[in-house]
Amino acid sequence: MTVRDGVGDGADAGIGATEGKDLAYSPGFGNEHSSEAAPGALPVGRNSPQRAPLGLYAEQLSGTAFTEPRAHNRRTWLYRIRPSAAHPPLRRIPNGELRSAPFHEVEPDPNRLRWGPLPAPQAPTDFVQGLVTVGGNGDVLRREGIGIHWYAANASMDRRIFSSSDGEFLIVPQQGALLLRTELGLLRAEPGHVALIPRGVRFRVDLLEAGASGYVCENYGRPFQLPELGPIGANGLANARDFLAPVAAYEDREEETEVVTKFGGNLWAAVYDHSPLDVVAWHGSHVPYVYDLRRFNVLGSISYDHPDPSIFTVLTSPSDTPGLAGADFVVFAPRWLVGEDTFRPPYFHRNVMSEFMGLIEGAYDAKAEGFVPGGASLHNMMSAHGPDRATFERAGTAELIPQKVDDGLAFMFETRWPVVPTRFALEAGHRQTDYDAVWEGLARNFRP
Ligand SMILES: [Fe+2]
Repeated sequence: MTVRDGVGDGADAGIGATEGKDLAYSPGFGNEHSSEAAPGALPVGRNSPQRAPLGLYAEQLSGTAFTEPRAHNRRTWLYRIRPSAAHPPLRRIPNGELRSAPFHEVEPDPNRLRWGPLPAPQAPTDFVQGLVTVGGNGDVLRREGIGIHWYAANASMDRRIFSSSDGEFLIVPQQGALLLRTELGLLRAEPGHVALIPRGVRFRVDLLEAGASGYVCENYGRPFQLPELGPIGANGLANARDFLAPVAAYEDREEETEVVTKFGGNLWAAVYDHSPLDVVAWHGSHVPYVYDLRRFNVLGSISYDHPDPSIFTVLTSPSDTPGLAGADFVVFAPRWLVGEDTFRPPYFHRNVMSEFMGLIEGAYDAKAEGFVPGGASLHNMMSAHGPDRATFERAGTAELIPQKVDDGLAFMFETRWPVVPTRFALEAGHRQTDYDAVWEGLARNFRP
């Protein structure tokens, strides 16, 4: 096996050697990156020369239509040992607990749903085998909506590669660091980071610890982008420079490799005679990346009231309606609360948008108990929710001195359509069927 990863002198970068902590990256969001793992591999001045350098094949990978506006256009040119076209027929393999939209297993459920952590697998399970779908919306073949998954794995992917033609994978590790070996290079993602694998980009997940678990938003819709900032100005929220794309790294492996593709909601696979992670050089904008959520520049009120949580948007997948996201990825990061005469935790609300929340670590300031790291809640369209009784009573009488909220890292996948759960999610043993009780006992305080 040969791995060239642009780190140091180009020596083999085995999993035990670096654990990915000293990986080189190419910073920026949405820009034109370029990288070569062998000198001279990247053509100069053209994309598809008569013969590509070093005997490589040139191949374009488009994440948007050729004709989409320049600001949203995503494509990457790959220079690889074998063209992707050279592969045997794909055949259906079992989907496991992976599901896709449209979701029809159960009726859409207006109840507020909550789960504890997904139990760790007992049998050897890699990242792909460990994907379990919570629910989703839209239609995978129309490239609209999202699928929400948990993952729980205890093994690295061994001679197995995965990609989704159905959408981009926003991976939110909750436990266990991951080394993501992608066609474009290596990314290290640990709890507190998010990693994004674009539609169609092939990758393998190596576990850097004994087990790994977390969440995935599979975004069937338009690629995630940074939100507009409006009056905030030119800086703030997630800053573009903190997104890290890989540098070119390739495997020259002549060995049987199972290449799994998610297409139309199902898994298909073919056994190649080589690893398709054989891209020696590339340039473009359709790239994977990793982002440290602790870099998020949290903005909020410095006078009164709790801003709408859209102020915490890290990434957004727009729809055709301005301001209406197919999916928003929102983080509740450590921040100061200073509002005067203000109920500082999230307020009671009913929203047209639907909200799936997860907790990476610590606690969330609207729930005193029950919402635990690795767990999740789903508050669908117009379902009434907000602080639990204990939080309401505490926050309503708290002394309003400046307060640092720094004991947790929670996130939300917010989406335009209700999330229809899977049967597995509704019937799972780790579902908390007594969730409604957190709002019991909210006293009648009305004194006309
Ligand atoms: Fe909410």
